[in-house]
Amino acid sequence: MQGPASRAWWRSAVIYQIYPRSFADGNGDGVGDLEGIVGRLEYLAWLGIDAVWISPFYPSPMKDFGYDVADFCDVDPIFGDLGTFDRLVEEAHRLGIRVLVDLVPNHSSDQHPWFIESSSSRDNPKREWYIWRDSPPDRPPNNWIGAFLGTPAWTWHAATGQWYLHLFLPEQPDLNWANPDVEEAMHGVVRFWLERGVDGFRIDVVHGIGKDPALPDSPPELALDPRASVHDDPATHPILKRLRRLAGRYPQDPVLVGEVHLLDTAKIGAYYGDDDELHLAFNFPALYAPWSAEAWKKELADADRVFGPVNAWPTWVLSNHDVPRHRTRYASEERARAAAVLLLTLRGTPFVYAGEELGLEDALIPPDRVVDPGGRDGCRAPIPWDAPPDHGWGSDPWLPWPPDPGHRNVESSKEDPDSILNLYRRLLALRRATPVLREGSFRVLESPEGTLLFERALGDDRVGVLVNFSGDEVDFGDVVTGTFGPSGSEILVSTFRAGPGSGGNLAGAGAVVFRCLNPDSI
Ligand code: NOJ
Repeated sequence: MQGPASRAWWRSAVIYQIYPRSFADGNGDGVGDLEGIVGRLEYLAWLGIDAVWISPFYPSPMKDFGYDVADFCDVDPIFGDLGTFDRLVEEAHRLGIRVLVDLVPNHSSDQHPWFIESSSSRDNPKREWYIWRDSPPDRPPNNWIGAFLGTPAWTWHAATGQWYLHLFLPEQPDLNWANPDVEEAMHGVVRFWLERGVDGFRIDVVHGIGKDPALPDSPPELALDPRASVHDDPATHPILKRLRRLAGRYPQDPVLVGEVHLLDTAKIGAYYGDDDELHLAFNFPALYAPWSAEAWKKELADADRVFGPVNAWPTWVLSNHDVPRHRTRYASEERARAAAVLLLTLRGTPFVYAGEELGLEDALIPPDRVVDPGGRDGCRAPIPWDAPPDHGWGSDPWLPWPPDPGHRNVESSKEDPDSILNLYRRLLALRRATPVLREGSFRVLESPEGTLLFERALGDDRVGVLVNFSGDEVDFGDVVTGTFGPSGSEILVSTFRAGPGSGGNLAGAGAVVFRCLNPDSI
């Protein structure tokens, strides 16, 4: 059913991540839900994104706020029910928005019936669905450390006298993908959602699912780093090939986007296989790059090397529910505006994390409001939709508001033509209307220190993007003339608040997208 990857819908899409607890509250209980999302789909259509990825909404004890799944094929009552989900998909599709859901294959909740059975006795038929090992009660089977708590990735199960593995919390036991029954069950989950009409999956911790059966110690120098527990094992690749074949049987051309949390672009690229594993993987090294022209040039060169071939398509992501928002990390509104230009004009599929279009900063979380064991509450603060006091939520939300919600909310931002929200909207509209930005080639050009200049080209169309990472003004006219010749440029979008001119100075942390009017002169 699938067409060639080079023409797939997800190459030109902008995907918007919704963290459902924090997006919009349909029933006024202070926790976002699916009905809330349905109510805001018109906003997303107005904004101009192409697809949403919804973080887990499955039944869960919420030890990891939904990434501890107790039933992979249902909706937690706090978020709604399957009927609401079906309506969400129908309504999103009516508005031209595709829907991706989160697939969490590496682990389940310890409250999942599979684990309850598996832990009930050593000879239970589901014992081998999880990773159990012998070792004395005071000595975990290896030196791996679980994420979040910094304690061993193993929990002693006194009732059956063995240890079980969990790369995350003890309440998130790892599934045993070496067991074909686990793979078959997970394929059932994939079919369940594809048959309900979803357009793809964001796949959690995809680099962790295949494990060396010997479960060797991490090298001692890495023993305390939870990421070292995740082995980037070759066993994952055949699993992904089979998953890709399964997805390929569905007419909606589903996309598989992997969270490959390895901070090495080449290693991430390996998860695309030979265009027969993931369609896309998050390029996290760029997310962790500081706000610096040099750092970004390195990331772009790495991505070009790895994803240059036509069938390996990069992704770009600056924020998500696991890291401080880039508005907070980059430490200024101007930089966040310039970052929006960068994100939405690079070659690849951009991911926008809900709220970044409002320029939201992380919330300050007082100690008595901390709820996440991984310390990620700040970037998960609720989206303020409108005026105080409840900002469209009906009651106090589960986490404190991000800073300045009275002004930095959807309603106020819509009204201000210079808001970052309207900048995102202009950029999204430009991207949609401009094939060169979606499909064009990419190359970095010489530019003054502290700036990044790149060109996208398709046929006769040449679009340039200049991002000024420095705090100093740059003479935009000079840069354009110096690089593209004297015949000028037409500014398509810029971060200039006073409206675009045809030249002049580009302020510190400004960015501009322009069409080169005389392509022959290049
Ligand atoms: C990555 C997810 O993005 C994160 O939120 C979660 O805690 C871990 N995987 C474990 O599922």
